[in-house]
Amino acid sequence: MGPGTSTIQKMPNPAEPAARKPDPRGPDMRVSLAGVPLRSPVIAASGTFGYGLEFEEILSFRRIGAFVTKGLSAQPMAGNPAPRIIETAAGMMNAIGLQNVGVKAFVEQKMPRLRQIPDAVVIANIFGFTIADCLEVIQALNDAPGIALYELNASCPNTAHGGMVFGTDPRLLEELVRKTEQISQRPLMVKLSPNVTSIATMAKAAEDAGAHALSLVNTFLSMAIDVETRRPRIANVTAGLSGPAIKPIAVRMVYEAARAVKIPVVGLGGILRAEDAVEFLLAGATAVQVGTASYADPRAVENIAEGLKRWCAAHHVAHVTELTGGLQL
Ligand SMILES: Cc1cc2nc3c(=O)[nH]c(=O)nc-3n(C[C@H](O)[C@H](O)[C@H](O)COP(=O)(O)O)c2cc1C
Repeated sequence: MGPGTSTIQKMPNPAEPAARKPDPRGPDMRVSLAGVPLRSPVIAASGTFGYGLEFEEILSFRRIGAFVTKGLSAQPMAGNPAPRIIETAAGMMNAIGLQNVGVKAFVEQKMPRLRQIPDAVVIANIFGFTIADCLEVIQALNDAPGIALYELNASCPNTAHGGMVFGTDPRLLEELVRKTEQISQRPLMVKLSPNVTSIATMAKAAEDAGAHALSLVNTFLSMAIDVETRRPRIANVTAGLSGPAIKPIAVRMVYEAARAVKIPVVGLGGILRAEDAVEFLLAGATAVQVGTASYADPRAVENIAEGLKRWCAAHHVAHVTELTGGLQL
């Protein structure tokens, strides 16, 4: 969507207050994310939900807001050598290295099947080693019907180039977002790296360059050593830490980012229960994503979405949107 060509604001949106009627069956869980209406603010995070198809028999797509695909690159990627996942005290470390089928196979083989799943809202996660790579992925996705939104991964810690390099330099991030937004035919959400000194600076840089929403956080750069062999426990040496261990840092970062920008912020990092999601919403998030929790329980995203609904009912929250930024200081 280049300058002056954006239709995002004009799209009819049943989640807008004017169109919203109180639901006698319970709290209204609908939210609007950059013009995309979602049934619930709870979304399955990238890299922990495959291409969605793997979860068709496991949970109800009707009960969750959306899901984000594994990161898609211009060419198929085999990822890093094993071992590339380990469990930690309160989470996990991974250095998958963006293993994926490539955007062409996603569009030709996965998307037609995904479109058969009623109620599945697809967010395509985009990765590239260079800006040109990212543009190639977006071009390929633009022609594929059935995708609601793009999430641009400017934050993967597990590749030597691209990924986190974009997400830690505000000028590079601005250039990446500006160029991708210009050709994007869908709302563009930019996924920020937590491996920075000032998340507010990065959030503002992405907003100024044209991002329609932000998601944060990706994993924290980390390392573990086997003291018997004295070798790294992950073949890539360093890896990304996720899960409950990172939640308090992620909540702080969402709070700081949400205060710095006007565009919606999607919060994630260590969400296991409905109350964790509420924390992110109160910190300023419009929606949340659930990642590592799906490894322990493949139905976690649905359970958290349903739990959030019950939490709202028990706390007399008529519309889940009331929680966003509700932190009392
Ligand atoms: C195994 C694994 C693979 C991941 N792959 C991706 C990816 O391809 N693209 C991306 O943007 N984030 C990826 N992530 C990051 C997650 O989407 C999420 O940002 C992070 O894990 C923090 O959330 P969590 O603590 O709920 O897992 C991955 C995370 C894990 C654990």
